[in-house]
Amino acid sequence: MHDLPPATVPQHVAIIMDGNRRWAAKRSLPRALGHASGARRVRQVVEACSARGVRYLTLFAFSTENWQRPADEVSSLMGLLVHYLQKEISNMHASGVCLKVVGDLSRFDQRLQNLMATGQALTAHNTKITLTIAANYGGRWDMMQAVQAWQAAHPDKTVASMDEAALRPHLSMAHAPDPELLIRTGGESRISNFMLWQMAYTELFFTDTLWPDFSTSVLDEALQWFSARDRRFGASGSRLAC
Ligand code: IPE
Ligand code: IPE
Ligand code: MG
Repeated sequence: MHDLPPATVPQHVAIIMDGNRRWAAKRSLPRALGHASGARRVRQVVEACSARGVRYLTLFAFSTENWQRPADEVSSLMGLLVHYLQKEISNMHASGVCLKVVGDLSRFDQRLQNLMATGQALTAHNTKITLTIAANYGGRWDMMQAVQAWQAAHPDKTVASMDEAALRPHLSMAHAPDPELLIRTGGESRISNFMLWQMAYTELFFTDTLWPDFSTSVLDEALQWFSARDRRFGASGSRLAC
């Protein structure tokens, strides 16, 4: 583990877990096995982030666009979500993980929705790390639902009176600060509709490592890289200040 000064460890790390199918294809294995191997990486990453002092970890598990995949692949991904939650909830609880699930959950079958609700209720008061799983999530969906939720909460107002601070509590990531670091595995340099609002000033770390091969050494590489960033937020920044 790299010894980073606590001040340089991001509070919130987001990960786009990409590359499962390419990992399977390289080994002539079925796609479902790539996804299953990917799911097995999650526990170690949660523990490693927790041990390094990361307070919020958000994982992109299934996008609003992923429904366009073949039906058998979607159903194996749903099966894995069920399996992961059934297997991990008690372990998460014992490790002080607070579980949140964000996305349009209404499209999932009732058993999966119940598991998500049970897991969130059981772990709601844990404080070691907040693990947010984004499932049937899209950044555009989130902004739309937030505007609609704001309007429902303020039926007497028009959107002309809404500002960023008023919208924020209605966004599905309202429980977390914006991520300082995004890691995307799998070699693509894009955001694919993840946390569009929240990533306005996030540092973006892209690695060719396929998600099932992700390890704590890649995490440490990303944290080390992050610690050297000069985050300016549009202002002068520490290196250019005069
Ligand atoms: C990420 O891996 C998992 C999901 C998007 C659900 P992919 O399934 O996208 O695998 P690649 O990127 O095609 O290799
Ligand atoms: C992003 O990966 C979504 C998840 C990891 C859940 P995709 O594989 O769906 O993204 P694209 O299609 O390469 O942009
Ligand atoms: Mg992909």
